[in-house]
Formats: sequence, C-alpha cells, structure tokens
Amino acid sequence: MAPRKLAAGNWKMNGTLASLAEVEALAEAHPAPSCDVLICPPATLIHALASRIAGRGIKVGGQDCHASHSGAHTGDLAASQLADVGASHVILGHSERRADHGETSGAIAAKARAAHEAGLVAIICLGETEAERDAGQTLDVIAGQLAASLPEGATAANTVIAYEPVWAIGTGRTPSSEQIAEVHALLRADLSKTLADGADISLLYGGSVKPSNAAGIFAIPHVNGALVGGASLKAADFGPIVAALSAA
Ligand code: PGA
Repeated sequence: MAPRKLAAGNWKMNGTLASLAEVEALAEAHPAPSCDVLICPPATLIHALASRIAGRGIKVGGQDCHASHSGAHTGDLAASQLADVGASHVILGHSERRADHGETSGAIAAKARAAHEAGLVAIICLGETEAERDAGQTLDVIAGQLAASLPEGATAANTVIAYEPVWAIGTGRTPSSEQIAEVHALLRADLSKTLADGADISLLYGGSVKPSNAAGIFAIPHVNGALVGGASLKAADFGPIVAALSAA
C-alpha cells in the first residue's frame, strides 16, 4: 500500500454556518479528486458539515480532542463525541495548541490513543520554531517530537503525520524544497524503523501552502499531501490545491 494522498483544511477558529457553502462549492468544483479531501472546521460546525456533504467524498475532522472518553472536563470534547457527529479525523498537537494550551508531546500521544480508540485517524503535528532552526536543531526537535507524540498502536490506517514549521504557519514564508525534503526523509526513515507499516503513513507538509506553491511542494519526495490553514477557507483557494495534489 502506498501512502494515501490527503489535502486537509484546518479552519482554526474561523467560520460560521454560512461558511459551509464554501465546502459545497469545493465538492461541486472537484467532484472526484484522486486524493482524500478533509475539512476540519470549528467543532460547532462538524455535525452540520458532515450532514451537508454526506456522500460527496469530502471527509470532516476535529481540531483537537481530550485524552479521556468522558467526564468532568468542562469545555473539552472526547474523540468519541467527534466521531458521533461525523468526524473521521482529528488534528492533534498543532503548534497553536502546543503554544496556547501548553500541550506536551506526551499529552498528544494520549489524545492520539483516545482518537484511535474512537476510530478516528489522528493527524499528529510536529514542527520546529525559527529559533530551533537557526540553532541547527531542526532534525533533533522533529525526531524527539515524533518519538514522544506517536502512541502505541499507530498504523498507516489510523495515523497521519504533518510537518509544520512554526515559523511558516500563517506567515507566507515556506521552507526551501531541500528543507522540506530533509525533514520528510527523516520522518519516513524513523517511521519505517519503528512501525511495521511506517513506509505507508501519509506525511503532510503544512505552513503557508497556497495555490501558487502547492504543486512544487507535492513534487518533494515523501510529501503525500498538505495541512492547509488560511487557504482552506475558500473553495477558490483550496480547490486548486486539491487539484494539484490530485495531479501529483
Ligand atoms: P497556514 O496554516 O496554511 O495558514 O499557514 C497551516 C496550519 O496551521 O495548519
């Protein structure tokens, strides 16, 4: 099995019910892409989106989940609750959650385990800060985050890894092709060593992906798709990214 190609949109804290028309427009413009397409809207929209695009080939995911299945955790959501309203995936360990909520790699592994138990695919995010890159620590940081964030039981069917350099998120700056290739080669080698089917895990790049740079990024070895923030909000931007991945 080759890694599945995945174009994943992370809407972050953007969007209301009216925004779902963008996903319908995307489904209309790209009815049968040769890649998986996923939209992770705010939790308030998961159920409505899943109902509206049911059967149209676009998957729906969450942006975080709790490590527990239920209980006294005000404001949090269990993985099983996301699955209950139609989510198939959940983004975990995004750098904004690592920074805003102090999430450690250990906590992310626990969340990923809960996601797997609920039948969700966990998209585990990793990435170095600009200071870490400048200090020449990128590969050590990524290898350390991967080892500590990957739960026992991870397989190519239930786990996706997204490399998202913190300094490239929402900044319009992207690493060079060589820099992306170096990190993705490390991820592929580490995963192939630690997991029986590590060669088949989908590896996404994320950070300022847009229509103009998508095809170039998808041509980099071991890049199987993208995790897209700002450019996933509008069908006119995300559509060409889906088309570029379909053609890659
Ligand atoms: P961006 O965000 O595409 O807006 O840079 C990517 C992400 O944070 O997943």
